[in-house]
Amino acid sequence: MARNKSKNAHILIVDDDPLVKYSLEELLSLEGYPVKSVYDAESALATLQSTPCDVVIADINLPGVNGFDLLTAVKDKYPDIVVILITGYGTIEDAVKGIKLGAYEYITKPLNDDEVKISIERAVEQKNLRLENLELKRKLAEKFQFENLIGSHNEMQKVFHLVSVVADSEATILINGASGTGKSTIARAIHYHSRRKEKPLVEISCGALSENLLESELFGHVRGAFTTALTDKVGKIEKAEGGTVFLDEIDTLSLRLQVKLLRFLQDKKFERVGSTDTIHSNVRVIAAANRDLARCVGEGEFREDLFYRLNVVSMRLPLLKDHLSDIPTLVDHFIAKYNKINSKKVRGISNEVMKRFLSWPWPGNIRELENTIERAIILCDGEHVGFDLLPDYLHANDKIETSDGLVPLEVALDIAEKKAISKTLQHFKGNRNKTAEFLEVNRTTLYQKMKRHALLDVNYKET
Ligand SMILES: Nc1ncnc2c1ncn2[C@@H]1O[C@H](COP(=O)(O)OP(=O)(O)OP(=O)(O)O)[C@@H](O)[C@H]1O
Ligand SMILES: [Mg+2]
Repeated sequence: MARNKSKNAHILIVDDDPLVKYSLEELLSLEGYPVKSVYDAESALATLQSTPCDVVIADINLPGVNGFDLLTAVKDKYPDIVVILITGYGTIEDAVKGIKLGAYEYITKPLNDDEVKISIERAVEQKNLRLENLELKRKLAEKFQFENLIGSHNEMQKVFHLVSVVADSEATILINGASGTGKSTIARAIHYHSRRKEKPLVEISCGALSENLLESELFGHVRGAFTTALTDKVGKIEKAEGGTVFLDEIDTLSLRLQVKLLRFLQDKKFERVGSTDTIHSNVRVIAAANRDLARCVGEGEFREDLFYRLNVVSMRLPLLKDHLSDIPTLVDHFIAKYNKINSKKVRGISNEVMKRFLSWPWPGNIRELENTIERAIILCDGEHVGFDLLPDYLHANDKIETSDGLVPLEVALDIAEKKAISKTLQHFKGNRNKTAEFLEVNRTTLYQKMKRHALLDVNYKET
């Protein structure tokens, strides 16, 4: 018989009806599962103490301790074990109760062999997925360990210290910083150092979507809420239940959504778009802004009350040019990262390159440095990154064109694109909808291009 991974799952059958007990045992043994069976809940708990088990399949009507209490005890002591309940009466109340108590599924007597087999297979699959998921989360958490956050400069140390102090609290956190300074990285580090780390971290870029789309992305909607709402949609806040929602580019939120977000932060309640049912939520909010949010308040673009709600704990990430002393360590860190990804053996950068790095203004901050290293590692054949592997714009002092004004086509197109976007944004006073419409790109594309050209931080309303 072909044995797949799921057939290694250990199964414990608990049923006082000998006929059911033996037929299940036979069916599942023939399927290739290691199976044990007992008559009552007490023996089941005793067996679990000494034997490995992945799935318990138990009758609800057991003598003594019943199936529900067994389920509760198993979930309490061995949360990874999947429990399937069996009953002879099949009432819907029992089904609901069982599921609420944490049963994976509920099957009714008389048992159908195929139904049992499918149910077990699905249960094992779900368990494996859950374990894989946990493993992935553990790896993610590892990635956002402080060891992977570089920064010995005093300003960075202050940020890391604050992160370690507040991560495990429930406080709402506001992270201010220009493009590429590490806001998203810090938000993830906070989540993965909090007690919510096993629950989802859901990120949303407020600036990438139009007001209405963002509203339904955040809060969800019900079918028929607007013409294109063909089905119900669960919003990101609901998806983050128990975990953290990271609202990036909060400074771009419209005043109407600011009101809705404020209510949510105050009461932890909201309604899906088009619905009057109030949903209670348990999520922690981390917000990030590229522009100085206090200034946005001063300019009447951001509600003061919302600002104070968000600003319970705030941190500001420095520009890379203000912590140049971290560059050598960052460079080593990124070389190691991209050596691994590209199977390269680059050992470092030339003195000339380091000198250039230490005098460059880094408008795109740590991300720009990372991209520069990534590109150099891909191009590098030797052990050291020389000046020739730097992008053209890093060759000149602070302007992009070379001395004779000639640039490769790719660079020329890039310069033209940046100019066009910047000019249009200026024309529409920073209004991204109008800019995207005029440039005939969608808003997300505009957002990505603005990010690439380090235009997210520019306040076009001033000019
Ligand atoms: N302290 C740090 N140590 C090491 N790498 C970092 C650090 N901070 C940021 N990075 C790296 O720099 C890159 C940019 O960081 P991140 O995406 O967090 O910036 P951001 O401020 O969120 O940018 P944006 O405003 O564009 O969203 C990421 O690839 C991240 O891994
Ligand atoms: Mg970010």
